[in-house]
Amino acid sequence: MNSQPTIPPGIVSAEDYETAALERLPADIAAWLAGGSAGEWTLRANRRAFGRVGLRNALCRVPRTVDTRVELLGETMQHPLLLAPVASHGLIHPLAELATAQGAQAADTPLVLSCQANTALEQVAPHLSHGWLQLYWQQTPERTLRLIRRAEEAGYCALVLTLDAPVQSPGRQAQRLRFELPSHLGLPNLEPALRREAVPGQSALERLLKDAATLDSLAFILHNTHLPVLVKGVLEVADAVELLGYGVDGLIVSNHGGRALDGVSATLDALPLIRQAVGAQATLLMDGGIRSGYDVFKALALGADAVLIGRLQLYALAVAGPLGVAHMLKMLQEELQLCMALSGCADIAAIDPSRLRVGQI
Ligand code: FNR
Repeated sequence: MNSQPTIPPGIVSAEDYETAALERLPADIAAWLAGGSAGEWTLRANRRAFGRVGLRNALCRVPRTVDTRVELLGETMQHPLLLAPVASHGLIHPLAELATAQGAQAADTPLVLSCQANTALEQVAPHLSHGWLQLYWQQTPERTLRLIRRAEEAGYCALVLTLDAPVQSPGRQAQRLRFELPSHLGLPNLEPALRREAVPGQSALERLLKDAATLDSLAFILHNTHLPVLVKGVLEVADAVELLGYGVDGLIVSNHGGRALDGVSATLDALPLIRQAVGAQATLLMDGGIRSGYDVFKALALGADAVLIGRLQLYALAVAGPLGVAHMLKMLQEELQLCMALSGCADIAAIDPSRLRVGQI
């Protein structure tokens, strides 16, 4: 771990932060961060999917300028990148989410704060020009509403309701290394969990499942906030269509970075089918396995309006603090611009499936 604002030599791509961080971090924290659930089939599938999509180069059609701006929920963003909600930045940096927020701000990048952050959402908000809050259903409508009101009052611009991880599924390597969240790192955005009475014959899993979100929970949230609500964890066309019918403002195609149900599709594979089903106007974001500007380009070409960056933000934070986060984001943006130029795309709207070549590279 390193809080010094220096970038080690040899970091020339966003992905280099992964190698450097995994060398530096304690083994149990590295396993928590890098790992996926169960056999890690989905974790691997996320990355492999990018290798099945090739690009087409442009000859004599190279644009003279490259514009990465996008509109998202009525706001103009300088580029189609956001930082995904990732829990417990305090494991990685002494300033926790405040350090990440500084890096995001320096790179003009919205941050989606996890409700499992180690820093109070009110403390992070002033460091963000554009922040969204991610939440899980908080057992009861009243508890969920209290969290939503805090986000509204602190100035967050949108809510992201994560639906694909009603129960957390710890990675096997992290379990082998006995990874645990240290007690000094609090979860100041969450109220202590309500203890559910043990019913004879009921397993611990069954007790947890009683608190999982339902469509009624979603309807409650939609009716009780003026903020746009996006649902994260969408992989199936039928779910995407149903959720939009319910009135959600956007969807995030995600499998929690391969950390929820192992065996679900790679997000890049699910994305084009969902875009086709929901139409061009729906707000559709994607995350999972993005490690380069080329990956961002492929996700946009297959239907994403923007992408979220998960593990890379903590890898960069571990290696070079806020500067590392900003540097990693800058490298992704610059690589996206290069890729756009070489494939003949002057702006984000020009990135479409005609720029892709399906088949192994
Ligand atoms: C996550 N993710 C996540 N998602 C969420 O909605 N709330 C959360 O608190 C967390 N916490 C979290 C912790 C860690 C250590 C990881 C790696 C991931 C999932 C995250 O938002 C995102 O979906 C994935 O990380 C995207 O995949 P990549 O970019 O990590 O490959």
